Amino acid sequence: MQTSLLKKNHLLITIAVMIAAGASVATAQIKKGKSRAVQTSQWMRGVIKPHCDGLKKGLESPPADDKAWEQLAVHAAVLNESSYLLMDDGRCPDGVWANAATKTLRNGSSELLAAIERKDASEAKAAFGRTTAACKECHEKHKEK
Ligand code: HEC
Repeated sequence: MQTSLLKKNHLLITIAVMIAAGASVATAQIKKGKSRAVQTSQWMRGVIKPHCDGLKKGLESPPADDKAWEQLAVHAAVLNESSYLLMDDGRCPDGVWANAATKTLRNGSSELLAAIERKDASEAKAAFGRTTAACKECHEKHKEK
């Protein structure tokens, strides 16, 4: 009786430890990948936000010259590449994240890049709106408020 109760307790503790470990892996996955150094928040702050802001500002009025269009293309291309990086290193936890990165962000930013290459300011604005829908889509589930 004693031993079986002890065994039962031991089993319960083992299960609890396994659940706790699993939970911390799941959080680590969102905040950071498996082996690479960069934290998700650092990528957001250092790469995604500045390029997103650059696009927002650059599209407020139609770009003045080729140099301005080229700069917009840099911003759009970096956001597009980020749609791949966000999926790397085991960082992606689920289908919401995957859809936001590989569909909304990737398609939006490639349409944005195409519009920039055609120097179509109004389509670029529309595609920028579709690109930033990805931010909300992913943050709603995965960014702590
Ligand atoms: C596929 C998921 C995903 C997408 C897409 C995404 N983010 Fe994030 N973002 C996150 C997560 C997760 C965090 C919270 C990270 C943390 O707190 O560890 C975050 C945090 C941030 C932060 C706060 C960073 C800090 O700690 O100061 C900013 C700013 C940000 N994102 C901007 C953006 C913008 C702008 C876009 C769209 C162009 C975007 N993000 C798209 C997942 C995403």
